Amino acid sequence: MKIINKWTVLLSFLSSGILTTSAYAQNDALEKISPPRKLTEEQSKVAADNYQKYCSLCHGKDRQGHENDHAPSLRSKSLMESGVAHQILRPMSYGRKGTAMGGYLDEVGGPMTLDETWDLTYWLFEQAGYDRLKFSTNPVKGDIKEGEKTYLANCTECHGANGEGVTAPALGNQSALAHNTDEFIRHAIRNGRQETPMLPFKDKLSATEIDNITAFLRSKALGWKEQKTILKALPKPEEYIVNPTGDDPNFTLTEDKYVSSEDLLAALQANNRMVLIDTRVTSVWQNAHIEGSIPFPYYKDVDINKTVAGIPKDVQIVAYCSCPRAAADYTISKLAKLGYTRTAVLYEGIFGWMKKGFPVMRGDIEGVND
Ligand code: HEC
Ligand code: HEC
Repeated sequence: MKIINKWTVLLSFLSSGILTTSAYAQNDALEKISPPRKLTEEQSKVAADNYQKYCSLCHGKDRQGHENDHAPSLRSKSLMESGVAHQILRPMSYGRKGTAMGGYLDEVGGPMTLDETWDLTYWLFEQAGYDRLKFSTNPVKGDIKEGEKTYLANCTECHGANGEGVTAPALGNQSALAHNTDEFIRHAIRNGRQETPMLPFKDKLSATEIDNITAFLRSKALGWKEQKTILKALPKPEEYIVNPTGDDPNFTLTEDKYVSSEDLLAALQANNRMVLIDTRVTSVWQNAHIEGSIPFPYYKDVDINKTVAGIPKDVQIVAYCSCPRAAADYTISKLAKLGYTRTAVLYEGIFGWMKKGFPVMRGDIEGVND
């Protein structure tokens, strides 16, 4: 009886969210929470199809991650037990600004309805097959300065000196920090992400060191607020060609397909006739794109005959994405099958283009006038 009481007290202690560092260090066992609703067969099928169509390009056919752009695994135990629903739903819906992860919810210009994003979240959870853990939403307390030192000594090779992400997620990303709780971040550091290059640190660093890093990462959140882009009407086929009466550009391509940012800028400045296709998810075209480009998302197994209607075969097509090249390469190969061979891919992608200070059109943000 006594023992049961002790556990009941401990459990209510854990679930009340008052969790001190030492309690956590000694009790790694977090309470489980009930699984979310089960999908119907039909919902599962739609979610599986949506996954292949929209996500597999980067996150891999089997959700293993790291297919392109170092997109993380969407089946690791530590993520799936700590992430459902919101840590999955939010990046999927709104994306992570400044990374290759765009938003897929229709509200921001993406291809999926709200129900579809929820179903895909639960589908990922069901496929992974782990329990959900209950996390405290309290901040993790730690020494930010010490955390920075430990971060610099252990994490920069993959996550970057400024948390910008090199071969791993951007830990200083404002949209990620806005939804990832401290406990979620600490759980990832302690346990790593199974079957990925992110190894567990719980045996390498002390509990205090991990708390310090968590506090350091949290200190990078600058109060990011979700910004709502006002959706623009998509260009019509008669608007597809930039400079329809201009001369054709004459690009020197590397590896037979890549054009440099400098050459593309020069062609635009010379008013050359081209079609620029933005192969990212349409929501990020809404946020910012190269002027004159048309949204032409990479989605797999989609009939692009309709999308290309209105693009003549002799015009120079330039494709770009943020990846910097995966989605554009894929789209160009689909176009080649339809007989479009005068194609090029922007080598540096749109982030490389922007880093060089080259111009982009930005979407209007609600409530912001500048
Ligand atoms: C060898 C490369 C490497 C090192 C070193 C490394 N990480 Fe990672 N980390 C990764 C990769 C890759 C992922 C994404 C894994 C996945 O899910 O596919 C990741 C994921 C994470 C995540 C989860 C992010 C999210 O949004 O889900 C956190 C938090 C994290 N790392 C923190 C750290 C910290 C803190 C350190 C240093 C103590 C560190 N990592 C060191 C490669 C690394
Ligand atoms: C163009 C490549 C690309 C595509 C396509 C893509 N993602 Fe991502 N995704 C990424 C990258 C890169 C990240 C990591 C961004 C960061 O935080 O630095 C990411 C992060 C995520 C995360 C956060 C995971 C974590 O560990 O915190 C989720 C969830 C996610 N993506 C789901 C999806 C889903 C679902 C789809 C399809 C609807 C999708 N993604 C399509 C590249 C992509």
